[in-house]
Amino acid sequence: EWWKQERNQQTPESKAIEEAAELLRSSDLPVAFPTETVYGLGADATRSGSVQGIYRAKQRPSDNPLIIHVDSLEMLDRLLNPSVQSPHSTKTPPITVPAIYKSLIDRFWPGALTIILPNPSGSELAPEVTSKLTTFGVRMPSSPLARLLIHATDRPLAAPSANASTKPSPTTAQHVYHDLHGRIDLILDGGASGVGVESTVVDGLCDPPAILRPGGIGIDEIRQCAGWENVTVAYKDGSLDVKEIPRAPGMKYRHYSPKARVVLFEPTSSPAGVVKHVQKDLHDSAIGAHNIGMIRTRNWKLGLELAPEAEIANSIKPIDAPIEDLISFPIPVQETGNPSARTKMAYDVYIGPDTASIAHGLFAALRALDDLDVDVIYVEGVPDSEGDLAAAVMNRLRKAAGAELRA
Ligand code: TXA
Ligand code: MG
Repeated sequence: EWWKQERNQQTPESKAIEEAAELLRSSDLPVAFPTETVYGLGADATRSGSVQGIYRAKQRPSDNPLIIHVDSLEMLDRLLNPSVQSPHSTKTPPITVPAIYKSLIDRFWPGALTIILPNPSGSELAPEVTSKLTTFGVRMPSSPLARLLIHATDRPLAAPSANASTKPSPTTAQHVYHDLHGRIDLILDGGASGVGVESTVVDGLCDPPAILRPGGIGIDEIRQCAGWENVTVAYKDGSLDVKEIPRAPGMKYRHYSPKARVVLFEPTSSPAGVVKHVQKDLHDSAIGAHNIGMIRTRNWKLGLELAPEAEIANSIKPIDAPIEDLISFPIPVQETGNPSARTKMAYDVYIGPDTASIAHGLFAALRALDDLDVDVIYVEGVPDSEGDLAAAVMNRLRKAAGAELRA
């Protein structure tokens, strides 16, 4: 294939990949790399020391298992059939991926879908990867850079998102640098991640099969696949269609949180109610909001309603494309009723209107507003029921906001 050919030519990219692969094989410091969903913090999934390095660098709780990344079905096959087996191993048929996953793999791999598989006996996976579960999560990323790196390393790579634990996931190399510089030695820069939210995690080992984490592949697309017509939603984030308690261990932790307080408005909130809520916050000295940020997705014209005469002061692009300008403008002091306070600024970022661009820009927008030291970020939600990336977007936002802050 083209990417194997490219490996043999000594391009700057192939040298960087070789260097990263060498580190992954020999060092216990993880390596950050781009994927189509978010940047990953990778380690050789078969070495305990290297997997422990991920938890250390991210300061991630060790009971939150990691996703394994493979470059091919052959690599997954080797993982399911480790060479160290019972003496009768030659007579036992090879372990294959359960049939339920075939329709999903055909349609979505390589891509933003993680499947749960039983960890075979004699597994080569370091125990830290699965954090004591009898199963493991695995996906084949579509990012060519990610697959080239796995191929060059010739090991399955364990990789959570490459943010500091609790922070929004990174969708650029700069985000990774911001969170992890001084803690890791190498970041492969592949530009902005296209999808912008993590993979969808599905469990086909139970009946009916379940979605453990909403993500880059929408529930409607999964429902179209053979065996997945009755898939249930097994994550809990305050959305209405929850039937079960959280089953993906990672879902219970504080997640995706900028420094600023996040107030998420469900898409059903009336625009007048939103304006009233924001203005009340601005007048309320107990909350003491000085600088605020707004993330608009569809219908809000909130910034202009709050400060009708304000001029657009400057514009910043938080991510290369297709996010639109982040604009800032002063909030008139009389609006806030507190003349002694420092200059109040509102920052407004538009990441809509379609869910793909909202997903793509969401984490970058939260991070950009955090860098501007805003005290509160107001976000315009989108309807979960759209069946596509909307559920993943709202899931991340509900976690960023925390249940008690939702408006
Ligand atoms: O898009 C992605 O999936 C990114 C990129 C880097 O590939 N990776 C990622 O990994 O999001 P991480 O570690 O941040 O998320 C892992 C999620 C957690 O919610 C965890 O609980 C769940 O997958 N998970 C992992 N192994 C599992 C298992 N055996 N059973 C149930 N859930 C599992
Ligand atoms: Mg993560």
